Amino acid sequence: MQVDELLKPFPIKEFHPFPRAMMGPGAWELVGPEAKKLGFQRVLVMTSGLRGSETVPKLVGSLRYHGLDVVVYDQVESNPKDYNTMDAVALYQENECDSFISIGGGSSHDACKGARVSVAHDGRSVNEFEGFNKSENPKNPPHIAISTTAGTGSETSWAYVITDTTTDPDNPHKYVAFDDACVPTLAVDDPTLYYDCPVDYTAQCGFDVLAHASEPYVSRLNFETSLGNALHAIKLTAKHLRQATWNPQELKGREGMMYAQYIAAQAFNSGGLGIIHSISHAISAFYDIHHGLNNAIALPRVWAFNMPVAYKRFADIAGAMGVDTHGMTDVQAADAALAASVRLIRDVGITERFIDVKQDTYSKNRLGKGPTQFYANSPTVVGDKDDIDRITNHVLGDACTPGNAKECTFETVRPVVEHCMHGDMDDLLS
Ligand SMILES: [Fe+2]
Repeated sequence: MQVDELLKPFPIKEFHPFPRAMMGPGAWELVGPEAKKLGFQRVLVMTSGLRGSETVPKLVGSLRYHGLDVVVYDQVESNPKDYNTMDAVALYQENECDSFISIGGGSSHDACKGARVSVAHDGRSVNEFEGFNKSENPKNPPHIAISTTAGTGSETSWAYVITDTTTDPDNPHKYVAFDDACVPTLAVDDPTLYYDCPVDYTAQCGFDVLAHASEPYVSRLNFETSLGNALHAIKLTAKHLRQATWNPQELKGREGMMYAQYIAAQAFNSGGLGIIHSISHAISAFYDIHHGLNNAIALPRVWAFNMPVAYKRFADIAGAMGVDTHGMTDVQAADAALAASVRLIRDVGITERFIDVKQDTYSKNRLGKGPTQFYANSPTVVGDKDDIDRITNHVLGDACTPGNAKECTFETVRPVVEHCMHGDMDDLLS
């Protein structure tokens, strides 16, 4: 069912599945036995490599210790490209693998989900499955998704996001595929695997969680079973993100954010997203900038845009973020939520405008360094009129946009994009 179908009067709500999960410190040690129980024999591991940490060798060693044959594809890029997925599919077929394990954040999980769908369709291009439930064969290989970040939620969701590099070079395209067939078989969220995540990347991933939690809480889908999870994930993020960012070896912060990630994804899995994500996808498509960073820059602008249609919901968000809303009107409390989000952005040291994102802004930056022609001439974000126009048009075509709290048109969304480029977050605060 398409999101715009769900928004019609008297809609039928659709609940999407999520997998079994192993949570908590030490869960990674169960991956080998769990893989054996699931019948894995020859597994393709998909990862970015997580170079600089021992995570991949540790997990691969454990899998081999438990008797599995392991083939490794460790070239997944940030904002995974279609060719990452198709290279992995070729390796899977060549080695006659029977299962997948992804190790990493959303890029590795998403590329892996796309590979599974492709494998189930004789290696057809992953780009053919953009949209909602495009799998014709729902039976694809089993998949254990092991998280090393706390942001994506992809380990437990029915979504994957791929950049299509075969489109017009002037109009690169990053799309979301929602597919009940791509849900992993088992999710593993072990906070000890999160210790090696860099400070800036931890902060940015935290804003992917806050976007995943807040967007379904105010979405026009208004899916009741998502609301409790959404609010609790906001609460956990407000409570733990500063600790996870600045005290990276402290378990409580890492564990709190892992749960926040997992719970937020369960909220958006059926509750929908909005234009924080649509703007983020567009910026990634054109500039290859990290998803969580894009979300952080877009979040307060989109909250301000959506507030007039959902003051009460944003007042609830303020409470979840630790604001004492006693005696406030809903409008005052909503404003306080916005202020709390800006405070959190500043407390964890995130860049506040897209035009300020430079080559050395953050550790995962690939801006201007991508192997495709899309990025060769984009050493910085341009942010001029044409750039804002093309980003706005990409936003309007995004699968997340119909669920946004407030109706979106070119005229209403363009100023939001423009503010993300050039505006001062202080302008949002009354
Ligand atoms: Fe996201």
